[in-house]
Amino acid sequence: MGRTGARKGPRTHVCTPREAAVKELFGKLADGTEIHRWSLENGGTRLKVLSYGGIVQSLEIPDTRGRHANVSLGFAALEDYVASSPYFGALIGRYGNRMADGAFTLDGEAYRVNVNDGDNSLHGGAQGFDKHVWDVEAFTSGSDVGLILRHTSADGEMGYPGTLRTKVTYTLTRHGDWRIDYEATTDKATVVNLTSHVYWNLAGEGNGSVYDHELEIAASRYTPVDSGLIPTGEPAEVAGTPFDFRRTKSIGEDIREADQQLVYSQGFDHNWVLDKGVTAEPEHIATLRDPSSGRTLKIATTEPGVQFYSGNFLDGTLVGTGGHLYRQGDALCLETQHFPDSPNQPSFPSTTLRPGQTYRSTTIHSFGV
Ligand code: BGC
Repeated sequence: MGRTGARKGPRTHVCTPREAAVKELFGKLADGTEIHRWSLENGGTRLKVLSYGGIVQSLEIPDTRGRHANVSLGFAALEDYVASSPYFGALIGRYGNRMADGAFTLDGEAYRVNVNDGDNSLHGGAQGFDKHVWDVEAFTSGSDVGLILRHTSADGEMGYPGTLRTKVTYTLTRHGDWRIDYEATTDKATVVNLTSHVYWNLAGEGNGSVYDHELEIAASRYTPVDSGLIPTGEPAEVAGTPFDFRRTKSIGEDIREADQQLVYSQGFDHNWVLDKGVTAEPEHIATLRDPSSGRTLKIATTEPGVQFYSGNFLDGTLVGTGGHLYRQGDALCLETQHFPDSPNQPSFPSTTLRPGQTYRSTTIHSFGV
């Protein structure tokens, strides 16, 4: 077979960051509010973000052969996020993770916050930041492209004191890193713990279990929990336990050990006390690698803790973005944060924010093969 006419090779098109930020209608809430989806691409990483919950609806990265896959669990339709999402890809606030009995005392004042997880409050209560509609604005800065998401939470919302003005910046760098910068201010003393709830499967969402993924966490201690997954208060050494990820091991290696802590949460669902503590600049804390695709994720943060959750409560009832059911262990979360229940645990790093102060937190996700 001879070639006829002009050679038709693949058309190449170099995207400038500005062109890479595309906005489209994703759906409408029951009250008619329009929810938009923003698509960004830089350095080989493709990110899709919803104005609803600041949700990462899709995050695509290449494997060793340059083939992209969406490595973050989610849904194809807005209705599913509204009806039944276990925080897929969402921004979490005002208080990420659990607060015992939905109660805390600050400056002698007792507060009750929304209880939505047994006796406790989880991820800011039933109407947390994951269910809010954020104001989104695209930006470019040098070779970076990104989104600024803004939300003001009213004084008393979900029981939390103070008007909380929150700004979250998602940046895709020219290296394809995804950086999150959180900022918040308040007009009354309050507590704040913001994080992001991406469910990672580096083989691609819907491709089965992550138990073969290899994980390293730079933490010598973790915070053991009670049956309601509230820290007992005393950090414990990871040495000699299934919680020792200081040297890389697979997630599945010890997940079936007969350890009471793993029984409580049906797998890993704990806060690791990062050896580096709170830092002014993000420092490396974890590496995740999928041996089958070769994809890696490295995380650096300013935060003192990371909640490693091994997708224990995914139970085969949710149909994900690509049309597959999500079952137990089909993804994992690495939520950089202050420790759970800090407002009730005086020995934990403080989560108090006062008028005149600015809450700041940064986490960088670096992808590679
Ligand atoms: C918590 C889990 C919870 C999951 C989804 C995680 O951050 O640690 O216990 O099941 O979020 O709700």
